[in-house]
Amino acid sequence: MSSRGLFFLVIFSLSALSGFLAENEEPAGLVMNYYKDTCPQAEDIIKEQVKLLYKRHKNTAFSWLRNIFHDCFVESCDASLLLDSTRRVLSEKETDRSFGMRNFRYIETIKEALERECPGVVSCSDILVLSARDGIVSLGGPYIPLKTGRRDGRKSRADILEQYLPDHNESMSVVLERFANIGIDAPGVVALLGAHSVGRTHCVKLVHRLYPEVDPALNPDHVEHILHKCPDAIPDPKAVQYVRNDRGTPMKLDNNYYRNILDNKGLLIVDHQLATDKRTKPFVKKMAKSQDYFFKEFSRAITILSENNPLTGTQGEIRKQCNLSNKNH
Ligand code: HEM
Ligand SMILES: *[C@@H]1O[C@H](CO)[C@@H](O)[C@H](O)[C@H]1NC(C)=O
Ligand SMILES: *[C@@H]1O[C@H](CO)[C@@H](O)[C@H](O)[C@H]1NC(C)=O
Repeated sequence: MSSRGLFFLVIFSLSALSGFLAENEEPAGLVMNYYKDTCPQAEDIIKEQVKLLYKRHKNTAFSWLRNIFHDCFVESCDASLLLDSTRRVLSEKETDRSFGMRNFRYIETIKEALERECPGVVSCSDILVLSARDGIVSLGGPYIPLKTGRRDGRKSRADILEQYLPDHNESMSVVLERFANIGIDAPGVVALLGAHSVGRTHCVKLVHRLYPEVDPALNPDHVEHILHKCPDAIPDPKAVQYVRNDRGTPMKLDNNYYRNILDNKGLLIVDHQLATDKRTKPFVKKMAKSQDYFFKEFSRAITILSENNPLTGTQGEIRKQCNLSNKNH
C-alpha cells in the first residue's frame, strides 16, 4: 500500500473509532443547543426569565441550584421533582428530604414564557437544568455550558428518593459512595457541596446539634449566633426560623464556604464532615485557597450531574405544565 493509502486508512479507522467511542460515551440525544432549529430563542428566554426573577426574588437562584441536585441525583434528570402530588401519589417536593425547597411556582413562570413562543417544545427538565446554569451565574458562579435534549418523566420518585439523597447527618462514606455511583469523585463532591455557600438551613435541621447539648465540634463563636436564630429545642413549625449558610457572603456562590467549614462553622453534619474526613479535607483546603480550582471542579461536577441518565428521543414527554404530567390534564 502506498504511504498515502496507509495515511487514509489510518485516518479512516481513527474516525470510525472516535465515532464508535462518541456513541458509547455520550448520553444519547443530549447535545449543545438542542433547540436551535425548533425554538432558537429558548435558551435566551430562560436566561432572561432567570434574570428577571432574580431581580424580584434573589432566592430563586438558590432554588434553581438546589433543584438540579434533587432532580438529577434521584435516578434521572427528568423533572420528576416538579410534579405535584396527585390523589394517589406523593410528590417528591413533599418528602422530608425536600424540606425548605421553594419557588417552584416560578418554574411555571419560565415555562409559560417558553410556551408563548414555542408551545410544546421545551422540556421542563431542560428548563430545570438551564435555570440552574443561569442561576449559578446570577450568584457570581461560573458559566457552565450544558447540553439539552432531555425529556420529562411521567412519575414521581418519592418512594425511592431516600436511597439517593443523603440526609443532613449522613456519613461521608455513604455520601461519597452515592456520588461515585453516578461518576462524581471526591473533589466533585467537595465542589458541589460548595452550593451551601448560599441560602439557608431551617432550625429543624440544626436543633439536634444544639439541644440538649451543643455539639462540641461547632465553633463557639458561631454557636452564639445559631442559638440566637434557633432559640427553641423544638422549633415552632409556623415561625420560619433559619440560619444563613454563609454569614460572610450569603448571596455569593464562592469559596467562603470552605473557609467556614475549616473554621468549624459548617451548619450540617455533612458540611462539618467534609472538612474533617481525610478523603475530602485536602480538597476542602485547596478550594478554600483557590476560587478558580473550586469553580473548575464545580463546573465539571455540575456537568456530570446534569447528564445523569436523561430521557431522550421518544422516551417520556414534553410536559405542557411543569407540575403535571400530560395524562393528568
Ligand atoms: C450530602 C449532600 C447534601 C445534603 C445532605 C444537603 C442537605 C441540605 C439541607 C438539609 C438544606 C437546608 C434546607 C432547609 O432547611 O431549608 C440544604 C440547602 C441547600 N442545598 Fe443542600 N444538601 C446536599 C447537597 C447539595 C448539593 C449537591 C447542592 C447543589 C449542587 C445543594 C444545594 C443546596 C442549596 C442551594 C440550599 C439552600 C436552599 C435555599 O436557601 O432555598 N445541596 N441542603
Ligand atoms: C439523622 O437525623 C434524623 C433526624 O433528622 C434522625 O432521625 C436520625 O436518626 C439521624 N441519623 C443518624 C445516623 O444520626
Ligand atoms: C400547577 O401549577 C399551576 C400554575 O402555577 C397552578 O395553578 C396549579 O394549581 C398547580 N397544580 C396543582 C395540582 O397544584
